[in-house]
Amino acid sequence: MFRGQPINPPADVAEALLRAGDRLGPIAGRVLWFPEVTSTNDVAATLAEHGADEGSVVAAETQTAGRGRFGRAWASPPGAGLYVSIVLRPTLRAAAVLTLAAGVAVAEGVATATGLEAALKWPNDLYVGRRKLAGILAEGAGAHVILGIGINVLPAAYPPEAAHATSIGGELGRRVDRGLVLAECLAALWRRYQEVESRPDAVIDAWRARAAAMLGRPVEWAHEGTVERGVADGIDDTGALLMRTGTGVIRIVSGEVQWG
Ligand code: BTN
Repeated sequence: MFRGQPINPPADVAEALLRAGDRLGPIAGRVLWFPEVTSTNDVAATLAEHGADEGSVVAAETQTAGRGRFGRAWASPPGAGLYVSIVLRPTLRAAAVLTLAAGVAVAEGVATATGLEAALKWPNDLYVGRRKLAGILAEGAGAHVILGIGINVLPAAYPPEAAHATSIGGELGRRVDRGLVLAECLAALWRRYQEVESRPDAVIDAWRARAAAMLGRPVEWAHEGTVERGVADGIDDTGALLMRTGTGVIRIVSGEVQWG
């Protein structure tokens, strides 16, 4: 699952996390940083099964089997991105809005750290125009959820299947402080994670504010062997995607959504 022992987080990351300390709550109370893992989500899941505290973070310089949603590979070139997983233990109620909150938090963290504003595409992909900047994979097993975050920080030679990828550095044309990006994303995550319990409506509103570009876009929804086509109409108050078709509005909570 991983090669070698965890190393100390690199100085740029350690310093940024220290500076953000009082805004992180329990997040990053423990940080395990690896030179290489298969997938940080796998390492974090093993830790969680062994009782790791909520907020424990697993990160790696590179992943040999990084994965995205629907079993897709997540390209993880060394030193070009942030590959991070966080152990969370949300209530059942909070879990429903958690993936949306995570997308909002990463967009906010990237904006605070770098000034780059990313848009959200349901449920929690970050885009700049038509190019993907970051993705989130939430995997849950009963008592815990592993929130895996992949952020493209610097331009890299991505494989053909990730040809539509972009990076913060590629968009801004300048150096990026990855420690600051991580610290601000985790601080925003802690803020939004608390809201998921206390004010889920605020999370939904923040998500909607970053998703205007999604509205009216053609959508294909594959589920149970069929494909429905329509246009994106927004999300409802539970975070479900609403797709307008010729015959009405369909509420989508799961299954694969393809964007036109
Ligand atoms: C997606 O857009 O489909 C989700 C991508 C999630 C990638 C991150 S990188 C850190 C964590 N470890 C993984 O194997 N995946 C997530």
